[in-house]
Parts: sequence; structure tokens; C-alpha cells
Amino acid sequence: MKITVSIIKADVGSVAGHTIVPKEIIEVAEKALEEEKQNGKIIDYRVLNAGDDLDLIITHKKGVDDQEIHELAWNTFKKAADVAKELKLYGAGQDLLSDAFSGNVRGLGPGVAEMEFTERGAEPVIAFLMDKTEPGAFNLPIFRIFADPFNTAGLVIDPTLHNGFVFEIWDIYEEKRVFMQTPEEMYDILALIGGKSRFVIKRVYPKEGGKLPADEPVAVISTEKLYQIAGEYVGKDDPVALVRAQSGLPAVGEVLEAFAFPHLVSGWMRGSHNGPIMPVPFKYSKCTRFDGPPRCVAAGFQLCNGKIIGPVDMFDDPVFDYTRQKAADIAEYMRRHGPFEPHRLPSEDMEYTTLPKVMNKLKNRFEDI
Ligand code: F6R
Ligand code: MG
Ligand code: MG
Repeated sequence: MKITVSIIKADVGSVAGHTIVPKEIIEVAEKALEEEKQNGKIIDYRVLNAGDDLDLIITHKKGVDDQEIHELAWNTFKKAADVAKELKLYGAGQDLLSDAFSGNVRGLGPGVAEMEFTERGAEPVIAFLMDKTEPGAFNLPIFRIFADPFNTAGLVIDPTLHNGFVFEIWDIYEEKRVFMQTPEEMYDILALIGGKSRFVIKRVYPKEGGKLPADEPVAVISTEKLYQIAGEYVGKDDPVALVRAQSGLPAVGEVLEAFAFPHLVSGWMRGSHNGPIMPVPFKYSKCTRFDGPPRCVAAGFQLCNGKIIGPVDMFDDPVFDYTRQKAADIAEYMRRHGPFEPHRLPSEDMEYTTLPKVMNKLKNRFEDI
């Protein structure tokens, strides 16, 4: 049976400042989605948050980019934003860039990661939800999960993974995509995705002739760039991802292993700084120090004919304390650079800048050298 899992997310308001989605908002979203479940439009749902982002995880049979599903997510965000406005939450309605829904939430502000696939006899799925960073933050861990034998033992020792995977990579500046194979094209893939603000992994597919159908994705990442949608900075495009695991795919532990290294991502304060991504349990999904450092939560579940069993709070494990401590050490080290690169992003990647104004003020004082 083909099932679609959709994560549709938006920042519709938070407490205090950009810290967390309060329970009042979670409850509004749960009530709205419960009604859709009762009326049969969706199979199941979970409402989670990553910091100030409200994440709707929805299962249904309507495929990706379905108008009805996108519309009910949009209406859920609208209801949540109305309550956020009543409560005078911070940034109430900030990611809902339009007043009217027009067939699809893409381009209207929310981020989307969804995939349709044939549900296996047992189907483990992990939803990764990040706050205070950008879609390219997933490049390193997704590459490591599906292509790095030092991360994923199965690539070496499991005959069902040994042939590798197909990566769908998007150039989000030129709006183009390319499909590339691992391990054959690994170096070329890295040449692209190392430039994570431009090239992002959108989906991963199994190869032809393997255990799983080659036309059904096994991972998907949201790639919306809010500032490109709006033409100006309107909030971070905090990304989400869905990753399927086990039986011909990386094991759950191989999927999580990629997050044991707190790599540097851009985002953090004012979307303008590099800092480590910290894998945290749900309860620590709140960016406090310098509005960060950026966080990632992982919700693990099994699907049962589209019904969601779980979630399990996957980073709620002391074994990740080491990574968190390392992230805290790196955060301290990066912070000591204050306004200097590479803590502060290069000018072209910053979301707040005074540079044009400063340059304008000084224009008559610059002398030729
Ligand atoms: C980063 C983020 C925050 C805000 C910062 C300033 O993604 O959301 O760091 O950029 O708190 O927010 P405003 O401009 O709303 O005062
Ligand atoms: Mg916010
Ligand atoms: Mg956010």
C-alpha cells in the first residue's frame, strides 16, 4: 500500500522572542488535525516543534503536493497564527507570507518535506526537525548516512546496501537539479554539496535492481528559502527531513550516527552566523544562548498502514551528551570571534546587514590608494 508522509512546517509565533512554540499553539494545531483525521482526509498526524517552528507530521494516501493536504496544513497554520496574534506571541504569523491559499503551500512561506512510498512489512521513519539554520545543514549528515562507509557500516558489509544510492541535488540559486550516483560520483557530489548554501540534497533514492523500488524516495529534505521567496528577510528557513531506515537501508543507528558530530551550519543569531548544530531531546529544543546554537530533534516512528506509532525522542539519550558538550564548547569558541568571520557569515549570506549604509556614509571619505 502506498502511503504519503508529509512534514509541513511554519513559524507562526513563539515565546519568549524566537524561542519555542508554546503549548497553546500546539493544542490549536492538534485540534485542527484531529478534525481532519475524524473526517477521513488524513490517516494520522503528530504535532511537534523544533524551537519556534511548528511541525505538522501528516500521513495520508494522496501523494506529494496534494492540494487538499496542503490546504488543510495551511488552514491549521492560519488558526494557530490567529491564536498567536491574540496572545501577542513573538513573530505571530511570520512565515505565512500570503493571505490566500493557492493550491500549494510552496512559495507561501511554510517548509515541506514529503514522500510517497510503498509501506514495507515494518517501516521505520525518522523525522529530523532543525531550528535556526538552513536546508544545507542536512547535506553533511544525509551524505554520511547514505554514502560514507565510515558512518554506515552497511554500505560495506550489507549486500543490500553495497551498490549505493542515487542523490537528487538541487541548485537552489539556479533552480535546477541533477541526479548523481554513489559511490561512483562521490567526489563530484561532494564538490557540489560542500557549497551548502547553494547546493542542497533534496532526495535520496535506492538504485535500480535492489531490494526497494528505485522510484520511491528513502529520504527527503525541505528546501524552501524564505528570503528568496519574499525577496527580503522574513525569518529563517529552518529545515526538516524524513529518512526511512532498516532492511536494505541504513539502520536507525547508522542514521543517527551522522548526528554525533556537531558540524558547523549557518543560521544562529539573526540568521547571520556559523555555529555547531546540537542534537537534542524535545525538551531542549529551545535556542537560548545568542538565539542558539542551532538545534536538531529526531522523532522516530513506525508506520502501520499509515497510522503513526510513536514518536520516540531519539536524541534523548546520554550517549549524545558528548556531542552536546562538544557543541557547547564549539559555540563558546565561535562566540569569542564576535563580529568577525567565520563566526559572522560573509556579507552575501547575511540576513541582516548594515554594510550598505555604512559604505554609503563613508563614500566621500574613501581615498584612492
Ligand atoms: C534567527 C532568529 C533570531 C532573530 C533575532 C532578531 O533565525 O530567528 O536570531 O533573527 O532574535 O529577531 P528580530 O529581528 O525579530 O528582533
Ligand atoms: Mg521565529
Ligand atoms: Mg525557527
